[in-house]
Amino acid sequence: MDYRFSLIGYPIEHSLSPWIHQKFLRKAGLKGEYNLHEIDPAASFEDEIEKLKLSQVNGFNVTVPYKQDIIPLLDNVDTAAQKMGAVNTAVNNNGIWTGYNTDGVGYLRSLESKYPELLSDKSSRILIIGAGGAARGIYVVLSQDGFSRIDIANRTEKSAAHILKKRNERTTSRFLTLAEAEQFAGYYDLIIQTTSVGMKPVEEKSIFSLGNIKSDAIVSDIIYQPINTAFLMQAEKKGASLHYGHTMLLYQAQYAFELWTGKRITIDEMDEELMIELKGR
Ligand code: ATR
Repeated sequence: MDYRFSLIGYPIEHSLSPWIHQKFLRKAGLKGEYNLHEIDPAASFEDEIEKLKLSQVNGFNVTVPYKQDIIPLLDNVDTAAQKMGAVNTAVNNNGIWTGYNTDGVGYLRSLESKYPELLSDKSSRILIIGAGGAARGIYVVLSQDGFSRIDIANRTEKSAAHILKKRNERTTSRFLTLAEAEQFAGYYDLIIQTTSVGMKPVEEKSIFSLGNIKSDAIVSDIIYQPINTAFLMQAEKKGASLHYGHTMLLYQAQYAFELWTGKRITIDEMDEELMIELKGR
């Protein structure tokens, strides 16, 4: 059987997903293709999805700006994706379409691959900077995983307050202003930067000072272009352990591919290969 996957979003011409999934297909010894299906916001989204479904793809990924819009067009949405209010992966099971969100699990897997000891200690204290869609996905999964302390620091309280409502009963959380979080940064074992600040082409920017962090903290940035963000460079100077954004990209794709094919591909050397690919872009 030849697999057929797609990505919907706008704009998507620079997406790394075809590069990743074509490698996964090869590594799995499967035949197939992964195509871009750009949907112009001026087009009828419903019609475009109907066309995609009729083309009998096995599944598709969903990116900005359609992660919410896709939900009413699917037959089922798994519980975590419902909680996040966003779907990034749709699976075709004999014409029945189910939506998932692989971002949070992808983040967790990427962290576990590098820092398993942090993941096994649920008393590790976590700070998430930012309160957008990515922060929500990560918060939901970390809270579901049973971490006892996950705080959110953000420019505005309102969006953070929405996320904190998704709390699992084992988790204690509070909102902090960015200034408060900078002051108390030494309290946290893991600090995760989830905003788009510092992304190419405004690479020199960082909204957060890591001056007060613990020397054995793990500092993570979900931005992968550039790989070495200004935020991570600050962390490195403080002697912290680093966690890079491109690894989340690989593991969220790993989980999507697994939902489509039932095969979990090992990431191994793809981490290094993706770094090289990103530097060339
Ligand atoms: P995504 O959905 O991809 O995670 P998003 O929804 O645009 O991205 O989320 C952006 C996050 O970055 C928000 O938390 C936003 O803060 P607000 O909730 O206060 O808007 C934060 N953010 C973006 N630009 C920022 C800036 N210049 N300074 C501080 N925070 C910023």
